[in-house]
Amino acid sequence: MTTYYSKITGWGMYVPERVLTNHDLAQMVDTSDEWIVTRTGIRERHIAADGEATVSMALKASEKALEVAGITAADLDLIIFASSTPDYLCPPASSLLQDRLGATKAGAMVLVAGCSGFVYGLVTASQFIQTGLYQHILVVGTEKLSWAVDWSDRNTCVLFGDGAGAVIVSRSLEPGGLISARLGSEGAEGDALIVPAIGSIEPLTPEKIERNEHKIRMDGRRIFKFATQVMVDAVVDVVSAAGLTINDIDLIIPHQANERIIDLAVRRLGVDRSKVLINIDRYGNTSAASVPLALCEALDQGRIQPGDRIVMVAFGAGLTYAACLWEWQGAETREEPILVSNWPISETLRERLQQMRVAAWRAQTEARAKLSDATMAVMLPLYTFRKGVKKRLGK
Ligand code: COA
Repeated sequence: MTTYYSKITGWGMYVPERVLTNHDLAQMVDTSDEWIVTRTGIRERHIAADGEATVSMALKASEKALEVAGITAADLDLIIFASSTPDYLCPPASSLLQDRLGATKAGAMVLVAGCSGFVYGLVTASQFIQTGLYQHILVVGTEKLSWAVDWSDRNTCVLFGDGAGAVIVSRSLEPGGLISARLGSEGAEGDALIVPAIGSIEPLTPEKIERNEHKIRMDGRRIFKFATQVMVDAVVDVVSAAGLTINDIDLIIPHQANERIIDLAVRRLGVDRSKVLINIDRYGNTSAASVPLALCEALDQGRIQPGDRIVMVAFGAGLTYAACLWEWQGAETREEPILVSNWPISETLRERLQQMRVAAWRAQTEARAKLSDATMAVMLPLYTFRKGVKKRLGK
């Protein structure tokens, strides 16, 4: 039987022209550039113009991806549209995009998994490709979060931005593409990031609108804790499932929600920061568009070369999380993704040694995470106590 591999053959991104800086936000709510930069790493974000919406942004990114792949919309078999901010509840954004692209033979579906949506979409697309069912799939992550944000709530409005990123996943005989994946959900934590008033559970009333319940509500600290934990766990899972350790990974593309979350996760994983793509300073958190925007930038900057192993990892509303290990095709694929491969030993011993290497790395990462948790457990009460004393002294 023929073995098919998923291959990213095209990519494209789009962000609206209008830039909203931290200084602009400080004119709107009680915040400052200093607070936003030190707590999140964000300096500016892009905001959709009047008349610009999720599908129109997705269209621009998708057209670029098709061009890079050298195919037309008519070649697409499927469109997977990751978004939580559709133009309408119905019809789905995926069908609107299918029509505007002219993807006449493509199926189309929306994938709602919060900020993890694009990684979920990439893994889903790969299944259709690897079974041989489809040849070309468009996976697009796009959000118009400026529509969903309460612009009077400083806890959330400083975090989000608008944008779109798209890739074409094609069928290939070249080994590589999706190597391993981890998709997860902790629905019990769902109320940490919620738009309470839009949905079938209760009618939307003028009173609810008055209270801004049709906008995003968020428990930032809860998500922070969740994110640092699941990002580390999911990366460890996909890397060890591939029989590798973190040292074998060339680039990590994390969801851009907060630079501090990324830093903490990266420290726990023991990864050199130069191997992590960070562009949150210019875009903020663009939810399902965040990973594809970062992927496009990495590709355009030449930071991804054939043979490279990339981990994409995200978390978001749900609460969901997702990670995948992707091997970039385009050149001779490494024969054996194992560092002990050159040793003159038997196949069985080689495999055993590699398993030990992976197990040692897992244990090391877990120990590092435990140490970091213990440090936080001591530091947090001290920090709160210090803050309380300062408040009482009126400083
Ligand atoms: N400007 C100034 N002060 C602000 C502020 C802002 N924009 N937003 C909150 N504050 C204040 C708070 O009111 C609080 O004041 P208090 O101590 O007087 O009550 C103080 O800053 C600290 O708030 P805290 O919640 O402890 O800040 P933090 O260090 O946890 O950072 C987040 C807040 C939201 C940046 C951080 O928790 C985060 O990024 N969480 C994850 C959110 C996320 O990723 N969401 C999307 C998921 S995909």
